[in-house]
Amino acid sequence: MHTTIALSATAQHYLNLEDKYGAHNYHPLPVVLERGEGVFVYDVDGKRYYDFLSGYSAVNQGHCHPAIIATLIEQAQKLTLTSRAFHSNLLGEYEKYITEYFGYDKVLPMNTGVEAVETAIKLARRWGYQVKGISADRAKIIVCSENFHGRTTGVISFSTDNSSRNNFGPFLNGFEVINYNDLAALEKALQDKNVCGFLFEPIQGEAGVVVPDDGYYSGIRTLCNEYNVLMIADEIQTGLARTGTMLACDVENVKPDILILGKALSGGVLPVSAVLASNEIMLTIQPGEHGSTYGGNPLACAVAITALQVLKDENMTANANAMGKLLREELQKLQSPFIATIRGRGLLNAIVIKHSNPEAAWDLCLLMKENGLIAKPTHGDKIRFAPPLVITKEQVLECVAIIERSLQQLG
Ligand SMILES: Cc1ncc(COP(=O)(O)O)c(C=O)c1O
Repeated sequence: MHTTIALSATAQHYLNLEDKYGAHNYHPLPVVLERGEGVFVYDVDGKRYYDFLSGYSAVNQGHCHPAIIATLIEQAQKLTLTSRAFHSNLLGEYEKYITEYFGYDKVLPMNTGVEAVETAIKLARRWGYQVKGISADRAKIIVCSENFHGRTTGVISFSTDNSSRNNFGPFLNGFEVINYNDLAALEKALQDKNVCGFLFEPIQGEAGVVVPDDGYYSGIRTLCNEYNVLMIADEIQTGLARTGTMLACDVENVKPDILILGKALSGGVLPVSAVLASNEIMLTIQPGEHGSTYGGNPLACAVAITALQVLKDENMTANANAMGKLLREELQKLQSPFIATIRGRGLLNAIVIKHSNPEAAWDLCLLMKENGLIAKPTHGDKIRFAPPLVITKEQVLECVAIIERSLQQLG
């Protein structure tokens, strides 16, 4: 069966506009959204859906969280951008707030996730030369296969996904790829004295929510200490309560040397990212050597403080943990022949589809959409289930009923 769905004339109109005037760099599900509230989004025909993607985990706090939106409006009416040529009354406040929140000396604010990854790479290289004593232009960063850290030419230089790299070369040097979840491979790679950092995702989100073995984070910590290499955690997708702890690395009480955050740092309101590190690492960058026009803008600072505060005030780590467990248990109970695997931690989950039709994951997403839940396949046969962290027990059960009905219709 190949599922086709009818679209309203209104929805089709918007699809046509995007098709004609927009670059074709995405393949979205055919749903046109115009409003969001909490776990729900509404399309242009007024139909309601559970959002099981949450803007790739940017909307952890729920759509249009009232406290975050109130801060956004209030600050937008006062001051939005100064550039870093001048100080603002919010930058220092935000820097104090976020560094105390996560226990680091300093923060470097950026906007998109990939900019923060680029910043972390530059910091690690600087530290490698200025602190570790690596000779000029020899610094190396170890990364993992199936990684996803964003889309700049620098970052795709060490991607192992052909569709991200094909015909975008030449690429940046100075990276070595090892298998994910392989401490022996890491130790081997760390024998090279020119290694300054190990960059990894605590759970590989884009790869299909690949959860490493218990002990991986503490093993990385031990090896990085032993070989004097920076542990660089990209928690852009896994951080900020998504996996049932504030940071995914918290599950093993491990503190990375460089912490990269993005996405839910603004609750899905505007691009806000951050790199956190010690003075020793951060102060290797001097005035004029790195920056961004919008990085640390007052609007972003105000919104990020509220977005972080809301996570604590509403106990979102505990809810993500409890609702994630419930979701996986209830999915397990379905005993569907089409679900090969259910995996995840907290509310970062995925199912792997097993079906004779290679398009089955896409078809299932279309059916779930018809039934009132939107999710998106990744890497063909995997579907991420990552609702906003404000989801309730009753809502999880209703979502599982929608998924069950859709699986039955998949046939
Ligand atoms: C782990 C990880 N790193 C980096 C990025 C890139 O973030 P952005 O799309 O904001 O540049 C993403 C985005 O999905 C991500 O999941």
